This record gives sequence, structure tokens and C-alpha cells, in this order.
Amino acid sequence: MAFDAIRNEAYEAAIRRAVTSDSVVLDLGSGLGMHAMMAARAGARRVFMVEPENVIHCAHEVARGNGFESVIEPFQGKIEQITLPEKVDVIISVFTGNMLYSEDLLPSLYYARDRWLKPGGTMIPNGAELLIAPICATQVYERHVSCWLSRPHGFDYSTVARFATNDMFAERDDTAMKDAFLLADAKAIATEDFYVARESDFDARTDFAIHTPGVCHAIHSWIRLQFGGDSLATGPLHPPMHWTPQNLPLEPPIPLNEGSALSCRLRRPSFGDWTWDVSTAHTAQKRSTFLASPHVTSRIAARSERTRLSLNARGRALLRALDLMNASHTNGAIADVIFREFEAEFVTRASAGRFVANIAETYGAEASSKEAQLADA
Ligand SMILES: C[S@@+](CC[C@H](N)C(=O)[O-])C[C@H]1O[C@@H](n2cnc3c(N)ncnc32)[C@H](O)[C@@H]1O
Repeated sequence: MAFDAIRNEAYEAAIRRAVTSDSVVLDLGSGLGMHAMMAARAGARRVFMVEPENVIHCAHEVARGNGFESVIEPFQGKIEQITLPEKVDVIISVFTGNMLYSEDLLPSLYYARDRWLKPGGTMIPNGAELLIAPICATQVYERHVSCWLSRPHGFDYSTVARFATNDMFAERDDTAMKDAFLLADAKAIATEDFYVARESDFDARTDFAIHTPGVCHAIHSWIRLQFGGDSLATGPLHPPMHWTPQNLPLEPPIPLNEGSALSCRLRRPSFGDWTWDVSTAHTAQKRSTFLASPHVTSRIAARSERTRLSLNARGRALLRALDLMNASHTNGAIADVIFREFEAEFVTRASAGRFVANIAETYGAEASSKEAQLADA
């Protein structure tokens, strides 16, 4: 992302417009902190970098190396867990997924805005749209979907085709997209104003008038970010960047004449699956990423709010390890217990050790001095 010049230039132009020598700036989900450094370079008084991953340490070193030590302050954690020293004038984020809502970062953006943005403050970007259009894309459809129906090496892979026809796919190879064209003008099926948006459940429908006849293989989708009066679109007519347009496949593909109508309903509950219903006067189909992987029945049963389950062996081992992680035992001692008590689950002592190390990293906290004294006693 550090090398996505188009994206970074759009961000920097917006940062320069918003930041003054009085500004306090939040780089939300800073990653390697490029936007924080842009804000510092634009003269911000104070810049907070918030990032849950360890990359924050590297970002801090980079910021120091670039001479911003006195301006940029790192905070490791999710924004929901962090207490900043003061409210901010500007929030910079890259919390829009390829399909706007995907990655489920928007709820954290709205939280950051409500908790930390001063009244009248600036959001960068300040909004985004999800755009879609029916596409004829013979080569990529063959590469991602119908290849599974072609009996590779004489074997029937139609089962996989069932998954592929419900899985959205991206194509980064421009040559494969060369024969692709849109059958209708793109429509913004969603528009979010980041100053006021609250919901990240999404359900909308739009109609297309076909202007170029052809076979509709997929609904093509991309986003457009808003930076005040400027915008940055990531679609098929724009140079490739950090975000990749997605294709929502149809099976069978739908031949369309000029002047015909096609309707698409697209939805996704937050943290959920995408579903697309596509219909014309003669045909209708519904696809969902929920059907894009095996074990659907057991997934449905396990996730249902009405299901009552007990723990499997892994779950019991997790519970046991969490119980032992009380500042009295070393990770090694916990791994010994886990290996002994869950022999069938962990083939080697090393795998039990890795299991405990992962738990420690995710759920462990430094022992308080009182706990440490008790453990030593
Ligand atoms: C798409 S990356 C953007 C990274 C960086 N800003 C850039 O432009 O290259 C989103 C970042 O947000 C971080 N993140 C995810 N959830 C977060 C949260 N709740 N609070 C703060 N950061 C979060 C991720 O770890 C990730 O580094």
C-alpha cells in the first residue's frame, strides 16, 4: 500500500487541505503510518497512530527515522480499546473494503468518529459509494467458473463449480480482462456519508438498461471514495490500485439484448455473507457467498442462535489452557498439562506448545505485581 501512488496522492491532497498547524490528527488503522507522516509533514500539531498489529512498532521507528518523533504518538490496540490524550480535528482511515462493507471495519470508523472527532472535524475520506454494473467477461469467467465444468484430466469437478458460482472473484491480470465490457452504465447501489452513517448492514436493489448486447457473466463491482470535492474510483476504467474490483458470478450466464432490463438486489448483514439476486423479464437467479464453501449444513447448524452445543476436544483444551493462564503457570507448564490431558488432540508436545503460545498472544495479559508475587511465593 505504501507504493500505491494513486491512492496515496489522493490521500495526501486531502490531508494537506484539512490539516493546519493547530490540528490534532488520528491515523486510524495506521499500518506502516504513511498517512500519519503525511499529516505530520502537512504541519499537524499532534498525530495519533492507532493500530492493533505489531506493525505499529515498525511504523513508530519509521516515523522517528523521518524526524517526526515529537509529533507522531503510537497507540497499539483497536480504537475501541484505546484512550487517546485528546479529541481530534481529523480522522484518516482506509476502512473501506473492496466491496465497501467487506472487512467489517466501518463500525470501528463510526465508533472513532463518535468518540474522538471534535464537532466540525474532518473525515478523510468523508464518504464512499459501492458501484455495480453487469459485465460480459468471457475469459475471466472461463478461468474462475466454467473451467470447473470442463472435466479437467477427465474428472468430474461439477461439485467445485457449485462453490465457484457462489464465490466472488477478483482478476488482477489485465490481459484476461481485455475482452471484458460493461453491458450497462454503472449504478451506485450504496452511498455512505461517513459523517452521519451508523449502519453497516446493507440491502439494496438497482435496475439496469442494457446499452450493449452481450452475455452477462457477472455483476462487476468496485468502490469510489470521496475526498471533499475529489473522488477516487477503483473500477474497470481506472488504473489498478490497492483495491480490486470484484465479480459476482452468474450461472448460467444471461444473454442480454440492447434495451432489455436487468435488476440486481445485493445484500449483506454486517459480518455476514453477500447475496445477489439477478433477474430479467425471462429469468432469475440467486447466489450467495454462504454457498461458496463446503459443510454448509453443519455451518448453519453450528451458527444458529437456537443451537445448544457442548465443547469439542479443542474447545475443552482451550478452556483448560485459559483456566491455567492465571499468572501461576508458565506457558511451558500449561503446554505440558495440555499435551498430557489432550493426548489425542495434540500429536506432539511442540503442537501443544504452539497452541498455548497462540492463546497467550491473543488472551494473555502481563501479570500484575501482586499476582507475580503470589506466583513466586
Ligand atoms: C486496510 S489497512 C490500512 C493500513 C494503512 N492505513 C495503509 O493505508 O496502508 C487497515 C488497518 O486497520 C487496522 N485495524 C483493524 N481494525 C482496527 C480497529 N478496530 N482499530 C484500529 N485499527 C484497526 C488493521 O490492522 C490494518 O492495519
